[in-house]
Amino acid sequence: MARIELSGIRKEWGEVVAVEDMDLVIEDGEFVAVLGPSGCGKSTTLFMLAGIYAPSAGVMRFDGSLVNEVESRDRNVGIVFQSYALYPHMSVRENIAFPLRFKKVPDAEARRRVEAIARLVQVHDLLDRRPGEMSGGQQQRVALARALVKEPQLLLLDEPLSNLDATLRLTMRTEIKRLQRQLEVTTILVTHDQVEATTMADRIVCMSKGRIEQVAAPAELYARPASLFVASFVGAPPINVLAGRAEGAEVVVNGLRLGRVGEGGAAGEVVLGIRPEHIRFDAHGLAGRIDQIEPMGRETLYLVETPMGGVRVLEGGAGVRFALGDSVRIGFRPEDSLLFDRESGALVPGARVAPPAG
Ligand SMILES: Nc1ncnc2c1ncn2[C@@H]1O[C@H](COP(=O)(O)OP(=O)(O)O)[C@@H](O)[C@H]1O
Ligand SMILES: [Mg+2]
Repeated sequence: MARIELSGIRKEWGEVVAVEDMDLVIEDGEFVAVLGPSGCGKSTTLFMLAGIYAPSAGVMRFDGSLVNEVESRDRNVGIVFQSYALYPHMSVRENIAFPLRFKKVPDAEARRRVEAIARLVQVHDLLDRRPGEMSGGQQQRVALARALVKEPQLLLLDEPLSNLDATLRLTMRTEIKRLQRQLEVTTILVTHDQVEATTMADRIVCMSKGRIEQVAAPAELYARPASLFVASFVGAPPINVLAGRAEGAEVVVNGLRLGRVGEGGAAGEVVLGIRPEHIRFDAHGLAGRIDQIEPMGRETLYLVETPMGGVRVLEGGAGVRFALGDSVRIGFRPEDSLLFDRESGALVPGARVAPPAG
């Protein structure tokens, strides 16, 4: 187990800056997800921690010791890739035991450890098979066992579930989380899937274009996104964004004047954000018309045309109770509104907007 510290970590590939001046501390035993769209630098960050890539600048410490110059195999890091990367000509037993070869673990001890870890990830019945004779889910369990057998101080998971089907992904999510709790191993999960990050991690590092946008617990990231990028990336269906202008005590959206509430001062070009699940049908609200209906099982997503612009409204537990073209009225609570500076994308803390009536 280890406390991980990154200061000013940077990785350049020629002209491309894959990771830009990253500062991050991960506590001993913590489960952190690195979340962001494809190409934002997640894998590069992970590979630097594993010692596969050397940073262009910055300092990495494990439990206070500098590891920049420490060889990958001496870092005691377990890594699992999306592609499993098992050796096809070796049995499951040999695959799992492989990392112990370099650690000069005595045979009897190695055997005992392979069997214990195989039992933990539930592949102990498959020890004599080859990877080709197993399902994707079973192969990924073996990859997990191989990463854990050397009792790593840091476990790195690079999109480990993206090759699995939806049901299996759900099971593995729960299992990896249980395993992590049980072993108390410091874990970093890289994913582009916000649901995966939200359900598994203690804290989420949200990245965009090589930079950290926000580091926060999942609930905090959802409720108080630091930027429009985070607000738009976290939450499904995505948050409604409406461009507007802050003028004195009002925010003008599409010519419609909304009252300002709260302390936060913002002037000029802003973006109003309201999540679909925070908009409700309200007899005293703003008039609109149902433009699109998407039944989603337990919930229904409506697209409602209003004078503010089109907004998505997510309603739960009421079935589909409107038809296309129906006249409706919508409202929201000021405390559920978010206001962002349009230029920088930064949240204006405390700034709220009241819904217009009629
Ligand atoms: N080996 C490499 N050589 C050159 N460019 C790379 C290499 N690996 C990654 N990059 C670039 O660095 C950026 C970040 O990539 P990556 O860390 O793989 O993103 P992610 O894992 O978030 O999808 C991308 O622009 C990618 O093209
Ligand atoms: Mg990647």
